[in-house]
Amino acid sequence: MPIQKKATLIIKNISQLITMDGPSPRRGREMENLGLIENAGIAVAGDEVLAVGKSEEISGKVDLAEGCQVIDAKNCVVTPGLIDSHTHPVFSMTREKEFEMRLQGKSYMEIAASGGGIRASVRDLRETPTATLTEKTTTRLNRMLSYGTTTAEAKSGYGLSTEAEVKSLEIVRNLNETHPLDLIPTFLGAHEVPDEFRNKREKYIDLLIGEMIPKVATEKLAEFCDIFCEEGVFSVEESRRILEAAKRKGMKLKLHADELTSSGGAELAAELGAISADHLVHISEEGIKALAKSGTVAVLLPGTSFSLNKGQYAPARKMIEAGVIVALSTDCNPGSSYTESLQIIITLAALHLGMSAAEAISAVTVNAACAVGRTGLLGMLKPGLQADIVLWNMNDYREMPYHYGVNLAEKVIKRGKIAII
Ligand code: NIG
Ligand code: FE
Repeated sequence: MPIQKKATLIIKNISQLITMDGPSPRRGREMENLGLIENAGIAVAGDEVLAVGKSEEISGKVDLAEGCQVIDAKNCVVTPGLIDSHTHPVFSMTREKEFEMRLQGKSYMEIAASGGGIRASVRDLRETPTATLTEKTTTRLNRMLSYGTTTAEAKSGYGLSTEAEVKSLEIVRNLNETHPLDLIPTFLGAHEVPDEFRNKREKYIDLLIGEMIPKVATEKLAEFCDIFCEEGVFSVEESRRILEAAKRKGMKLKLHADELTSSGGAELAAELGAISADHLVHISEEGIKALAKSGTVAVLLPGTSFSLNKGQYAPARKMIEAGVIVALSTDCNPGSSYTESLQIIITLAALHLGMSAAEAISAVTVNAACAVGRTGLLGMLKPGLQADIVLWNMNDYREMPYHYGVNLAEKVIKRGKIAII
């Protein structure tokens, strides 16, 4: 006889429990389906969900462990913990001066070409001790958690030498062990060509393929290999070579694609079977078709469009209507989008991508789980799944995009434990 699990935590009086039960990932109209239960309750056993149902029935459905904690949700909305599927959280120096330069008319690429941008962050990270980087990254993870994010993908990409990339990924690995947030590591050595290789970019590509990727793959420092596929950074041909090398080493692929110009990045992502293609502000019609036919997730980052302030946003409606799997993420980074809040991203998705509250919630739960290779494991509240749960200071989930600029997360529960009260 299997041992019956007992409830260690019960949440009652939930006005709307968003379980996300249903197809995973969601495409098209399925994104409107939140698996919603009204007047609901949820029971948790240790770190996993034990049962969901109507509030008045939940206690009767399960055995209670001694000292079982009961939370009265007081008619608030409850969702799965949010998943931020695209972040660059490991950095020290912030770049507010560049933000001001952009306000004065300089473009992101002009600043990058004159030695600022990613390369400025690289110079700084290489000199910053691990302890300082860890402390600063921790502050960002704490902020994410307090805003309802319980899992985040975390990229390297400000090291751009074997040593500094390994240092960044080791920080992610250590924080994954010590911080409540779950982190999923991505190697982004192909974020830019660093200063010392500017006149011999081929040599940097050789270093990526011959040394960095094999080391990261062998030491299992990252699950994914990402690249900045963009005019002036890595071309589609270079990206194909680098990503194919990563694939041969068993890594799954992600791409920063069609962010600033249309270059065929989305088509490449579909061709290579990448797990996600991210940004896609300038995706072509062909790119949309290619993604719709594939299992590649389009990770849209409206915070980046907002912060770069060029009035250009990804054609989310077209993608959803074509049947592309769409996720949303912060792109938290010191250059193009400095925010840890998926809540503001949901507001921007409503206002600038034309997404409904339900679509946006699907995009930061089940579809984001798919973008980090966790389909069926995270982003849903179902018996047996990890108890990552957020109680929101609202009675109706449609408040999520509408009430903006404040933190609406009331309680965040990570693996069955209250992380922040
Ligand atoms: O996703 N596009 C490339 N990488 C980041 C920006 C990084 C930076 O500016 O530091 C992005 O927008
Ligand atoms: Fe990014």
